[in-house]
Amino acid sequence: MQRDLRFCLDLLRSADRFLTIKREVDPKFELPAVVKASEKMGKAVFFEKVKGSIFPVVNNLFGSREMLALLFETKPERVVNEWIGRVRNPIEPRRVSSGPVKEVIRKGAEVDLTEFPMVTHCSKDAGPYVTAGIVVARDPETGQRNVSINRMQYKGKTKLGIRMMPPQHLGIIQEKCEKRGKDLEVAVAIGNHPFETLVAATTVAYGADEFTLSSALRKEPLELVKCETVDLEVPATAEIVLEGVVHAGVREKEGPFGDFMQYYVPVMENHVFEVKAITRRRDAIYQTIQASSLEDVHLLALSREAKVYEAVSRVADVQAVCLVPTILSCMISIKKQFEGEPKNVAAAAFGAYAWLKYCVVVDHDVNVFDVNDVWWAMATRSRPETGLLLVEKAMGFPRDPFNLHQSKLGIDATAPLNQWEEFERKIVPGADSLRIEDYL
Ligand SMILES: Cc1cc2nc3c(=O)[nH]c(=O)nc-3n(C[C@H](O)[C@H](O)[C@H](O)COP(=O)(O)O)c2cc1C
Repeated sequence: MQRDLRFCLDLLRSADRFLTIKREVDPKFELPAVVKASEKMGKAVFFEKVKGSIFPVVNNLFGSREMLALLFETKPERVVNEWIGRVRNPIEPRRVSSGPVKEVIRKGAEVDLTEFPMVTHCSKDAGPYVTAGIVVARDPETGQRNVSINRMQYKGKTKLGIRMMPPQHLGIIQEKCEKRGKDLEVAVAIGNHPFETLVAATTVAYGADEFTLSSALRKEPLELVKCETVDLEVPATAEIVLEGVVHAGVREKEGPFGDFMQYYVPVMENHVFEVKAITRRRDAIYQTIQASSLEDVHLLALSREAKVYEAVSRVADVQAVCLVPTILSCMISIKKQFEGEPKNVAAAAFGAYAWLKYCVVVDHDVNVFDVNDVWWAMATRSRPETGLLLVEKAMGFPRDPFNLHQSKLGIDATAPLNQWEEFERKIVPGADSLRIEDYL
């Protein structure tokens, strides 16, 4: 049996990382509020009853490194290494004749998006949004598949506003279609195994197929089924699939929407997705992701941590890389061998991943997954007059109306070389393994 969303839910349930909300919740604000209130628990949240819909909702499948470790069958600090090892061997997905996502098929006049939970996340959002759909499309010249995540605003029974723009690959593909006067066929799969969601949030070389990566993460071919109304394939075990077209030359107002930086992106003239068919499981589970949540950050961080890890491994003995809690900054621990080496490490990280704005390099005894520990290292080990690497006017996060994100700062927060007698951290023997209950 192919691993799917339900396999993941069972895994999380058996590891006590699953919360069931039995009380009916309003999808407008209340559901996201419960998610926000519970995200620090590091548990998936499953809403059995959502007002106005027959479908349950799940959220926060990978909102912590511990949850990702369960999926990758490794330790939390090894998740990035596991990712790097697995994606080295891409595997072609496999076409199958049918799958659970074909249990119910609705076409044309039967299509009604409003049967799904209309989750409105933030106070100033333009309305309900689909946030956990992976968007499948093809380059019109090469036929190469692309998979990405794009926010979609509910606009009617068959209509969604969708955000896409170059240099993101889906935006490039749509532009190519539009130049030919062609509508772009898309299929959006909602309720996937996290490996598909993770690769959809990954930037790969243009033309590379993200599903060969998720197959690599699975260590077996992802099973795909043909769509009903468009020439595309989608995961056979997805919960729900929306099929349709993005119309050439059509733009409508979309937004505002509370985005991954915790700000509202303004109203924009964006594309329109007309849904022509819906296929789904009979008892489909609807999935949402809250932008800027721990789940969203981990989703965006992992593949980018891998990119940075591989690049800095070429210049130093890297121990760990962390892009949480914000993917515009990173913390890297190394076994320092040369004075000045941390600046090379920061430069390599900036080169590998353009959105990085800050990079703090610490010694191997600092836990990069704990910002308090990194802050401690900065306060006690950095030397501001010589330990900073400022890169002015480089390339950074592209939507930057106030020109805040185009320069970079590397911070060397490592101790002076060969001075471990002065900088050895004190240890209280036994404190880490002690159980306070034994003393009560
Ligand atoms: C929850 C979520 C929502 C996202 N929304 C958008 C979006 O609306 N537009 C966009 O271009 N990228 C969005 N992204 C980021 C892209 O999915 C990501 O950059 C991906 O790598 C783009 O893939 P592509 O270059 O193959 O199109 C979102 C990511 C997440 C996790």
